[in-house]
Amino acid sequence: MEVKTSLLDNMIGVGDMVLLEPLNEDSFIVNLRNRFDHNEIYTYIGSVVISMNPYRSLPIYTPQKVEEYRNRNFYELSPHIYALADEAYRSLRDQDKDQCILITGESGAGKTEASKLVMSYVAAVCGKGQEVNKVKEQLLQSNPVLEAFGNAKTMRNDNSSRFGKYMDIEFDFKGDPLGGVISNYLLEKSRVCKQPRGERNFHIFYQLLSGASDDTLMKLKLDRDFSKYNYLSLDSANVNGLDDAASFRTVRNAMQIVGFMEAEVQSVLELVAAVLKLGNIEFKPESRVNGFDESRVKDKNDLKEMCELLGIEQSVLERAFSYRTVEAKMEKMSTTLNVAQAYYARDALAKNLYSRLFSWLVTRINESIKAQAKTRHKVMGVLDIYGFEIFEEGDNSFEQFIINYCNEKLQQIFIELTLREEQEEYIREDIEWTNIEYFNNAIICDLIENNQNGILAMLDEECLRPGTVTDDTFLDKLNTICAEHQHFESRLNKNSKFLTDHSLPHSCFRIQHYAGKVLYRVEGFVDKNNDLLYRDLSQAMYKATHSLMRQLFPEGNPAKVNLKRPPTAGFQFKASVGVLMKNLQTKNPNYIRCIKPNDKKVAHIFTDSLVCHQVRYLGLVENVRVRRAGYAFRQPYESCLERYKMLCKKTWPHWRGPARDGVEVLLTDCSVPTEEFAYGRSKIFIRNPRTLFTLEERRRACLEDLATLIQKIYRGWKSRTHFLLLKKSQVVVAAWYRRYAQQNKYQKIKSATLVMQSFVRGWKARNILRQLKYEKRCKEAVTTIAAYWHGTQARRELRRLKEEARRKHAVAIIWAYWLGLQVRREYRKFFRANAGKKIYDFTIQRIMQKYFLGLKTTTMSPMDNTWPAKPYGFLEGAHTQLRRIFHLWRCKKYRGQFTEEKKAVYEEKLEASEIFKDKKALYPSSVSQPFKGDYLEIQKNPKYQKLNSAMEEKVLLADLVNKINRANGKGSPRLFLLTKSNFVLADQKTGQVKASVPLPDLASVSVSTQSDGFFALKLKEGSASASKGDFLLSSEHLIEIITKLHRIGTTAADRDQINIDISDEFLVQFKQDKVCVKFIQGGPKNGNSAACKRKNNRLLEVSVPSP
Ligand SMILES: Nc1ncnc2c1ncn2[C@@H]1O[C@H](COP(=O)(O)OP(=O)(O)OP(=O)(O)O)[C@@H](O)[C@H]1O
Ligand SMILES: [Mg+2]
Repeated sequence: MEVKTSLLDNMIGVGDMVLLEPLNEDSFIVNLRNRFDHNEIYTYIGSVVISMNPYRSLPIYTPQKVEEYRNRNFYELSPHIYALADEAYRSLRDQDKDQCILITGESGAGKTEASKLVMSYVAAVCGKGQEVNKVKEQLLQSNPVLEAFGNAKTMRNDNSSRFGKYMDIEFDFKGDPLGGVISNYLLEKSRVCKQPRGERNFHIFYQLLSGASDDTLMKLKLDRDFSKYNYLSLDSANVNGLDDAASFRTVRNAMQIVGFMEAEVQSVLELVAAVLKLGNIEFKPESRVNGFDESRVKDKNDLKEMCELLGIEQSVLERAFSYRTVEAKMEKMSTTLNVAQAYYARDALAKNLYSRLFSWLVTRINESIKAQAKTRHKVMGVLDIYGFEIFEEGDNSFEQFIINYCNEKLQQIFIELTLREEQEEYIREDIEWTNIEYFNNAIICDLIENNQNGILAMLDEECLRPGTVTDDTFLDKLNTICAEHQHFESRLNKNSKFLTDHSLPHSCFRIQHYAGKVLYRVEGFVDKNNDLLYRDLSQAMYKATHSLMRQLFPEGNPAKVNLKRPPTAGFQFKASVGVLMKNLQTKNPNYIRCIKPNDKKVAHIFTDSLVCHQVRYLGLVENVRVRRAGYAFRQPYESCLERYKMLCKKTWPHWRGPARDGVEVLLTDCSVPTEEFAYGRSKIFIRNPRTLFTLEERRRACLEDLATLIQKIYRGWKSRTHFLLLKKSQVVVAAWYRRYAQQNKYQKIKSATLVMQSFVRGWKARNILRQLKYEKRCKEAVTTIAAYWHGTQARRELRRLKEEARRKHAVAIIWAYWLGLQVRREYRKFFRANAGKKIYDFTIQRIMQKYFLGLKTTTMSPMDNTWPAKPYGFLEGAHTQLRRIFHLWRCKKYRGQFTEEKKAVYEEKLEASEIFKDKKALYPSSVSQPFKGDYLEIQKNPKYQKLNSAMEEKVLLADLVNKINRANGKGSPRLFLLTKSNFVLADQKTGQVKASVPLPDLASVSVSTQSDGFFALKLKEGSASASKGDFLLSSEHLIEIITKLHRIGTTAADRDQINIDISDEFLVQFKQDKVCVKFIQGGPKNGNSAACKRKNNRLLEVSVPSP
């Protein structure tokens, strides 16, 4: 449940000045001080918020606070700027009323901070979403940019706004921000050239020099040292608590968020740099023949750099500082400028350049934050304008005059709107309106702005008048025209009352503003109002190539030379204030009146006189009077009844009926005099705060009684609840105890019963057992007797049956013999003499037939070893013989299919088998390999063409062999060729014949019994080839080579067969020596091939891997 609270709860002093009693200036200040000392910086006057500048950060702007004030009624919580912002936002969103928030107060009072707080509150409570957040961010980030260019440190405020700002924030029907429009008013541009003691130029100059990178500064031709620039005052260049470098980064970041392009930022900085450079241009006099001095630029370096920055031709600008073209009607005249005029021109240019840059920035920001949607917007305007300004010792000039004029207008609109609102509420609530006496400052506004004889009109008249015009002529004019005005004071006035007033110097005039008297010095009024920039300068600027200059100096366009004077500063300002006032009048106003507690810019100090002065000129006491002229306090019936219902028995605790009746009953019951209140439509109006406080007092007393009552009821309830709990517990405990006791008793009875029961049952069981045993014994006796008797019977029967069976068997045998005898005797008559042999032959024939048919299943493949099993023992010999004959026969059949070549191959294979089968382990692996003969394809291979042609006969075998070197046992590849009459060894690469041995010279061939491919070709001693010694070779086709050799030997008629010696040790004749080649079986060393190694001079050892 939401707890209803009120502004009246836990108040320090009074939260709403309307309730102040007694009401006078002193009590007003005391209340403000009291609240300020307790960190209550906000106080209301009705719906107006007074804000005291705390000069320190207070923990009252947290997100929790935002939540606390969100959607709460204005008077529900203690005064806060958030309450005002919430009220304004909600009536904008829910009632579709455009709002404006008018923030006034003197410099340093906290207007800008207040405007930011309002904006941040609205940003926090309005809708969310990517697009909305972007708009919010852009609106909020426009502040740092404008502050950098438009704020400066002054004596009164380290971040003083030197321009007026009005920002319209636009919302859609849901209350989401769409965009905004900013208007700026009169930038204090004189600050660009000159700053009062203890003050600074605009922040941006210092931020740029401190925060920009070296690179940027170099591009802008700037030096980091402030002292290098005439326009920057040095005495307060560094401000405590201001970090210019960090601010520069913030500003750049903000510009980026707002939507400035990088090039635009650069252009802006270039103009800022150009202003600094401009300030450094100095002039010297140069005497002319006509006796006049003419100004010349002293050191042209700064001029040159400035011209480079802006893209201006140096000579053009230089000339513009020395001459001035005056155009009158159709004539053009050039006059020279003296040094003072040149400085004036320079400063005018700097001021114009900067102020136009500032206006351009505002326009550019407006472009970015402009609302996109074309539908009707709801608008909340926030006005943060310079406050009323009074300098001591009559140092007030044209600017202060303008500022104070603006504040006069605001005060007027404040009075008008407050009264209007008050009156409207009375009408709305149907309450009689009583006229209220108040001071209306319209008369002062009229003094300044009247079109005929207002001060501004006269100033314009003076500026436009031909002839000599000075500030004094202007003052004279004022003295004659305004002499009678009761708010105008001057020494030279015809009004004799001021003739002796020494506080009023001759060159000054004084206006009694609503906020106090202000002494203005007329010096500079005419010049500042004219705001003259020589046309030569504006034309020079227009010619610049810099991207912004044409936009900033449009009047410099030679094609649009306008001989009419531009509107004066005063005229422009009056016009823009007029527009602003009209705008504000269409909106629902919300006021924040800022007050500065001390001049020292420090926390905790409250200077009565200073505050009193502000309270006076802000007309705050007046404001309270107006507010409570009729009825001091008003409250909706519901909240009034809710708050005071305990004061009357009829309304307590609930009033069932309309709230208004309830309040009526309540007030009658409380005996409040009837003249003290009036009943509106929805609110009760209370005339005197005292009445309200009496009600509050009674409420407080009543609340104490109520608290006691609540306490009493609560205690009673608590004791009762406690007692009931005890009672309930006692019942539970008793029940449990009884249950426990009964359970115990029951357990005992139960166990006793069980004991007795078991005894009885035991006794009974034993009786039965005894009985049963007896019966069993009786039955056993009967069974035994019966068994014996049955045994006797059975044995007797068995004996009888055996006897009978023996008799039956004897009868059957005798019967069989007798029957056989009978059959034989009968059969002998029919039996022939040779019938036995015939049966026998027939049986044998059938058996043989079946046997031969069984053999038919055997295949014709000679490799098939299968043969049916013999069916009868007597066929054993025939069976084996048949198998052999059949095999020979099918082999013959198989051979019969062979061609001649195949036959030769098989013959060779056969011969190989005869030579090597069971003698050499290599043989089995060769059986399946066909004998190809020409492995080198010697006839086709072009590499061996020469070798082939050298061969006289047909090559029977050509293969690659290894010739074993006896020195190390290693092999070198050779081509081995075999013809019918010789064999040839040739070089493998070149095909050159190394040895050609006629076969008759070959005595024998030696090979091992193992699976190696080594073979020795031994030559006949004394033969022609023997001189080179035997050949020890190895080949993969050893079996084929040897077989072929052997075959040639066998078929040749003219020579002996070649001996083939198969043993694991043989001698080989190498030239002179005989070397023994020995084969041993060893583990596989070099893979699977055999390796030959020389052991000594006489022994070559070949290790053959075991199979
Ligand atoms: N609510 C606040 N909480 C904390 N400090 C504040 C608050 N309001 C103002 N200040 C302090 O006072 C200083 C001056 O406030 P601000 O710049 O808002 O004055 P101003 O009224 O705008 O003055 P000017 O007319 O010169 O622009 C701020 O810089 C800040 O230090
Ligand atoms: Mg400000």
